[in-house]
Amino acid sequence: MIQALSYIVVETPHLESWINQARDHVGMQIEVVEPNQCVRLRVDEKFQRFVITKIDGKATMGMGFEVAGKIELNKISKMLKQEGYAVTEGSQQELILRGVDDMFFFYDPDGVRIEVCYGLADADSQFESGRPIGGFRTGDMGLGHVALITEHFDKMSHLYRNIFGLKLSDHTEVPFRVEFLHCNPRHHTIGIAHTGGPAKIYHLMLEYNDFDDVGRAYDMALIDPDSIGVTLGRHINDHAISFYLKNPDGWMIELGWATRTIDSDWKVEELEGMSLWGHDRTWLPDNKREEARQILKKLSKKGQRAPVITTAQNSHN
Ligand SMILES: [Fe+2]
Repeated sequence: MIQALSYIVVETPHLESWINQARDHVGMQIEVVEPNQCVRLRVDEKFQRFVITKIDGKATMGMGFEVAGKIELNKISKMLKQEGYAVTEGSQQELILRGVDDMFFFYDPDGVRIEVCYGLADADSQFESGRPIGGFRTGDMGLGHVALITEHFDKMSHLYRNIFGLKLSDHTEVPFRVEFLHCNPRHHTIGIAHTGGPAKIYHLMLEYNDFDDVGRAYDMALIDPDSIGVTLGRHINDHAISFYLKNPDGWMIELGWATRTIDSDWKVEELEGMSLWGHDRTWLPDNKREEARQILKKLSKKGQRAPVITTAQNSHN
């Protein structure tokens, strides 16, 4: 079934700001498809990981998920149609722009464009980062993870678990209902939350190979403190050390390091909080920030901590 988050599709009125942040702050590679109109962003050997198109209206963000091949693509398409989703084949132009063999798209219960594809090509040149960084951790873990706030929790959970075949990593009911789901060694590829608020894209997590690259990105964000949506901290579940940078469209890019991986004997956990330390959500109302501080104090009092597991990918220098 779904093997990984493959790429992100953005339509935005802020193309220039996206390019500047992606290249100069995050360290991605920009490939101009059409000047002032469309770019592809690279973070690794793949042809693209973001396709960004300039529009006049409201910004949108969609996700591309990868399956193994044509058989799986058709199977998911059939299941979606049986569930009442309107499935549309990708056009030749869309396939070429993305560098995939085949793709279809539909809209999830909150109206987010979801693409399912196979065969994302490698680029014919080496990845050249926008600033000197040690690269991003992708490979069989996919591009990263996305967290969504949904108005249709049960339908979304059904979509990702029963149609796409993702499995539960962990969950919580407090302070609101959240499920974290995996489809490869990455601890979670999707997080869905029901806060009672309107549906929105909460964040996309990208993982650096090197811790120093998180620190340097944080230094740059501190020049404009309003750009920090969530301060430096460590997640309780995937153990990412990260902070969240607001992007030009208002949702966030989480820049992290050293997430733990998951294997077939994983036991589902119920979470006691979202973070071990840090991660002050600057956008929350004061009472909610205080609630989060109290959870951190409780975990600190218990002495709860987690090991840092590094990988071969981040021992190269
Ligand atoms: Fe995250």
